[in-house]
Amino acid sequence: MELETTINGRRVSLTFANGEFLAETLRRYGYLSVKRGCNTGSCGLCTVWLDQRPVLSCATLTARVAEHQITTIEALQEEAEAFGRYMVAQGAEQCGFCSPGFVMTVLAMKRELSNPTPEEISHYLAGNLCRCSGYKGQMRAIQEFMEVE
Ligand code: FES
Ligand code: FES
Repeated sequence: MELETTINGRRVSLTFANGEFLAETLRRYGYLSVKRGCNTGSCGLCTVWLDQRPVLSCATLTARVAEHQITTIEALQEEAEAFGRYMVAQGAEQCGFCSPGFVMTVLAMKRELSNPTPEEISHYLAGNLCRCSGYKGQMRAIQEFMEVE
């Protein structure tokens, strides 16, 4: 199967198998920041944006993305690094396994919510699991990051 879409601002043509999921397609086309953990829609590691909203690419059929806008962390390097500095300042960086999906969700939240409460932040991040932390340092980093213009 074949379709046209936009990835990180560039028009691309994708060839894929019937029933293929977006995480597999993106990795095959070299977007290696897209990682898979559970591959069953449970951990959030594979998060990318579809039209500026976070989606689980392991659970999104590639056939659905025709004529949409896909964003991976490759297009958000500076912003991701800026958020990373807040994580470091709060001692919240650990193994980093969850980071690609976690950061994509945080950056989407910054665009979507203004002055979110801790409960709203937790709710937004509910699909992104981190096996290392108790989320407290991450929460402090996110709250500070959300306050920056
Ligand atoms: S790899 Fe997609 S949710 Fe876990
Ligand atoms: S930092 Fe290790 S899984 Fe999140």
